[in-house]
Amino acid sequence: MDNKSALFSKLVNHYRQKPISFHVPGHKFGRGFNPIGKSRYKDLLTIDLTELNGLDYLHQPKEVILEAQQKLAELVQADYSFFLVNGSTSGNLAMILATINPGEKIIVQSNVHKSVIDGLFLAKANPIYINPALIPQLGIAGCVDRQALADMLIQNSDAKAVLLTNPNYYGIGADLTDIAKLVHQYKIPLLVDEAHGAHFGFHPSFPASALVMGADVVVQSTHKTLSAMTMGSVLHVKSNFVDVERLKLFLSMVQSSSPSYPIMASIELTYSWIKEQGACLWEKQLDAISWLYENTIGLKNIKLITDIDKCYYKDPLKIIIQTKNNLFTGFNLQALLEERGIYFEMADLYNALAIITLGNSFRDVMRLKQVLFEIDNVISLSLIGSNEEMFRIAKEFTAIFDYNKGNSIPIEKVLYRRNISLPVKEAIGEISAKAIMAYPPGIPIINYGEEITKEAIEYLLLLKSKGVKFQGLEDETNNYIRVLDRTNIID
Ligand SMILES: Cc1ncc(COP(=O)(O)O)c(C=O)c1O
Repeated sequence: MDNKSALFSKLVNHYRQKPISFHVPGHKFGRGFNPIGKSRYKDLLTIDLTELNGLDYLHQPKEVILEAQQKLAELVQADYSFFLVNGSTSGNLAMILATINPGEKIIVQSNVHKSVIDGLFLAKANPIYINPALIPQLGIAGCVDRQALADMLIQNSDAKAVLLTNPNYYGIGADLTDIAKLVHQYKIPLLVDEAHGAHFGFHPSFPASALVMGADVVVQSTHKTLSAMTMGSVLHVKSNFVDVERLKLFLSMVQSSSPSYPIMASIELTYSWIKEQGACLWEKQLDAISWLYENTIGLKNIKLITDIDKCYYKDPLKIIIQTKNNLFTGFNLQALLEERGIYFEMADLYNALAIITLGNSFRDVMRLKQVLFEIDNVISLSLIGSNEEMFRIAKEFTAIFDYNKGNSIPIEKVLYRRNISLPVKEAIGEISAKAIMAYPPGIPIINYGEEITKEAIEYLLLLKSKGVKFQGLEDETNNYIRVLDRTNIID
């Protein structure tokens, strides 16, 4: 048996013994699966098992799952590591629920993923939002400034935790070492949503992980930049300020009581592979990325972002492209790439973002280079004039979004009140009953309980005109928005 991936081996061995199953899951190794999908799912279904003797149980692990989690903790220098089968979403929920009591203050970076907002609601927390600095070069939010956080902590010395997202979706983040020291002076934990940094610390050219930089609880999506199946994620703890038993309780509440063994085994396989191969696992991809930068210098209209403001690090596995002078939006670039069979992770008004992982070959990157040159020519042939108006709207909104979070009422006063549907254009001045976001990245543009500003609506309509996919708007056409029924707003 392969002891390095003992959970995976146990699943495989169980099937090999030709057991007769009278338990769930009902497909029974795939035999009872719809024949149309059988050939695709075939091998995976043979290890899609349940909590049988010898296979341990995620929510009270004593054997093989516990050992796998302990090995992971050792690898990342955590006190405890936990497998998550419901994504970083479940990790963020549990992290907040485990550290904040109802009504307590938590200082939270304002541009967080919706799962953090949801966690704040479920915990009945009192969030105090802190705005990240903007990265003008990319037109996106960067990281929280240490001094701004220090000031915020002086004003809110009764806060019970600080929660940051580091890195952001684009792989841009800050060194958290000093921030962690600052937070610890208040004897409270630093919680970090590191969903996009699961690979950090495993190669010298990757940034250090938040945990190593001193964070107390860190959530990572193993399925995003590493190799686990979708939803496979992890949560690490290294802290004197966190009650681990309480954390375990909430982890079991926010995750399925039938955790997926293929997902858990894929998390285990990911880390046993890294442990065995070490940093050299990524050499091919990193070579390909260097090659891409060297061989795209000749692009006339497209630029690949290599240098970022020195107060940040940039994850080398994220490729950010823009058109020079913002000739085209990131959405335009993404569409042009897709027309040629290249699918990026996401786009925004300014940038298009690719993620390179262990799943990418040199050939993929060569094809990307070829397509970038093709698009470069298309762009020069079809000068579309100025996008000035669009960028004015975006900039005005970003200013409001980042610096005016105050005008809102608590989420719980929103979710339990009656709401009505209004055409988007008529909603200015109303209170939003939903969190509205482009997905990805899943960061609310208008949050629950926020007053809907003219700038936010203009920005929303702008994104809509670019074909952005939304969550939180009323209908499929995205023409309606849910707002609080004014007759029901008491305070
Ligand atoms: C910053 C951030 N945190 C958390 C999540 C949720 O991660 P998951 O998809 O693993 O639930 C995402 C998803 O995109 C994210 O971007």
